[in-house]
Amino acid sequence: MFEIIKRDGMARMGRFEVHGKIVETPALLPVVNPKINTVPPRELYEKFGFKALITNSYIIKNSPELREKALESGLHSMLDYPGVIMTDSGTFQSHMYGEVELTNEEIVRFQKDIGTDIGTVLDIFTEPFWTKEQTAESIVTTLERTRQACDMKGDMLINGVIQGSVYQDLREDCARKMASMDIDVHPIGGVVPLMEQYRYSELVDVVMSSKRGINHSRPVHLFGAGHPMVLALAALMGCDLFDSAGYAKFARDDRMMFIDGTFRLADMKSLDCDCPACRGRKVEELRGMDKNRRTKTIAEHNLYQITRELALVRRYLQEGRLWELAEIRCRAHPALLDALRRLKEHQAQMELSDPISRDGAIFYTGPESRGRPVYLRYLERLGKRYVPPTDKAVLFPDCQGKPYGRAYAEDFDRARRSGYTPIVVSPFGPVPAELDEMYPLAQSLFPSIQDEETENESERLTYQFLSMAGFKTAIEPGQIPDGGSQEYDADMLRAKAVARYQFGNEAADALFRGEVAFVKSKKTGKIRNVISDGEHVLSMRAGDGMYTLRLEGAKRIASSVPAPHMRVVIADDAVPFVADGRNVFAQFVLSCDPELRPMEEAIVTGKDGNPVATGRMFLTPAEIPFMKKGIAVKVRTGAEE
Ligand code: GUN
Ligand code: ZN
Repeated sequence: MFEIIKRDGMARMGRFEVHGKIVETPALLPVVNPKINTVPPRELYEKFGFKALITNSYIIKNSPELREKALESGLHSMLDYPGVIMTDSGTFQSHMYGEVELTNEEIVRFQKDIGTDIGTVLDIFTEPFWTKEQTAESIVTTLERTRQACDMKGDMLINGVIQGSVYQDLREDCARKMASMDIDVHPIGGVVPLMEQYRYSELVDVVMSSKRGINHSRPVHLFGAGHPMVLALAALMGCDLFDSAGYAKFARDDRMMFIDGTFRLADMKSLDCDCPACRGRKVEELRGMDKNRRTKTIAEHNLYQITRELALVRRYLQEGRLWELAEIRCRAHPALLDALRRLKEHQAQMELSDPISRDGAIFYTGPESRGRPVYLRYLERLGKRYVPPTDKAVLFPDCQGKPYGRAYAEDFDRARRSGYTPIVVSPFGPVPAELDEMYPLAQSLFPSIQDEETENESERLTYQFLSMAGFKTAIEPGQIPDGGSQEYDADMLRAKAVARYQFGNEAADALFRGEVAFVKSKKTGKIRNVISDGEHVLSMRAGDGMYTLRLEGAKRIASSVPAPHMRVVIADDAVPFVADGRNVFAQFVLSCDPELRPMEEAIVTGKDGNPVATGRMFLTPAEIPFMKKGIAVKVRTGAEE
């Protein structure tokens, strides 16, 4: 059973329970060759903290000695490893050496017999150079074998490997067919050649298309991905499990893994590494070691590179900054930069899971940053939901020091008194003054020296927006007339604009009906609460300048905006609990608005449509039907409170 604890981008931090043992994801499984004991499994578990590993059942089965031992005492005892053991099936050997003499039934049964925790189907490795016909044909066989394995698996968990070469439609289709089978993990297979050849942009297409069809309740394993340089990007795309044979293979070859590539010990001018394996050592000392000791030392170094990067991925994920880490990593190699650029083509798909707000600031570190889903979402919502207060605009350049309203306080005021709406031309595109304190606009950092591409794009987007929103004129700050005397209510403009952006225009009308008053912070002067006709309908969060929806507000929206807008409908037996303030668990959700995003305000209702509670989405609408466990909505106000 897999439960999502925390998310960022498409990444998930999760708990994967396997036979009573917990694997915390993202996780990497070191590959153990049962014939070569480079780093003993017990050490992998105790010294390096790897709570799961992967080994190969085909190699074990083909060695009379190992087979005997594994069948007699079981795999865990044979390897002396207390953690979760995953086994592969021989597919990779057929990719490397041609046909293997083995049936799917045999190898699945063997994996069960030796007590593996997670076994693997004998899938057919789809090579990147295969034709589409050849690929499609082989997938039919892989699917048949996967079905067979599901029937046979018993207590063993099973890997159903998604294949499809570089054909995105075949990948998606294969994933979708497996989504409805009784498998436990979704490995994405056939990608090793892409990684070996640094074809990372195609890897992005393969992962993203596979993710489109996948069953989200299962961890996704990127088969053969274990180099620290790809972990942040792969995790960002929603891969939960990884494996590395490279740490040992490279070590036997005197090659050392680093965050920006793999380097030959013979070519290295200095060691410059402070991992526990290298600390205090000079490159000459490492070169001078006897072969076995050197291999072990380099393998340990490689493992430390992996564990360190994985720890960093987990920390950035928890802090809501995984995009930042992935961007840094992708700038370390041109092929990875290609991957980052390709990811922009999947911006809309990424947007479905990207949280509406997060703790971390958004760092703009180059034109590729604009490929992030947060940029797309902002422009889409602005286009659909922004209502200009006047039809004249003043265009301000982006500036350091946010929010813009503070940096440009006097100019904004002068503009507004003359009937002009201040708009900042930012790397996000146009930012109207009313929205300047809202996430992500106030929480972003841009360089003060802009690149040409971004500058041109910001301008293009702004002029497109001005014409779509119905502005008739646009002037520069130097042209603002003096002595304007128009009255305006900046709080009201902001309060309504943010409500429209967050909840849509119809909902905002319902929330701002009748007499509206604000409770403001004595310290900062910022809006705290919105009171409409005596009812406290909204509270504004200081951190991200967005609203939390109160139950009174939810009732207004429910009675005036047709379902499913913002609604999460739950089963009758869950209603009393949720009304009492308990969270909504995925298994109790009957339906929900497909437009909701993680961290977005939601209205929880019973089947009758009456609001029971408000809260923030945690899972995506696409994930909820699949999840057997976990919180779908974090509830804030129950109706009974
Ligand atoms: N190891 C690396 N790639 C693959 C794959 O596509 N299938 C299996 N079973 N194992 C792999
Ligand atoms: Zn080292």
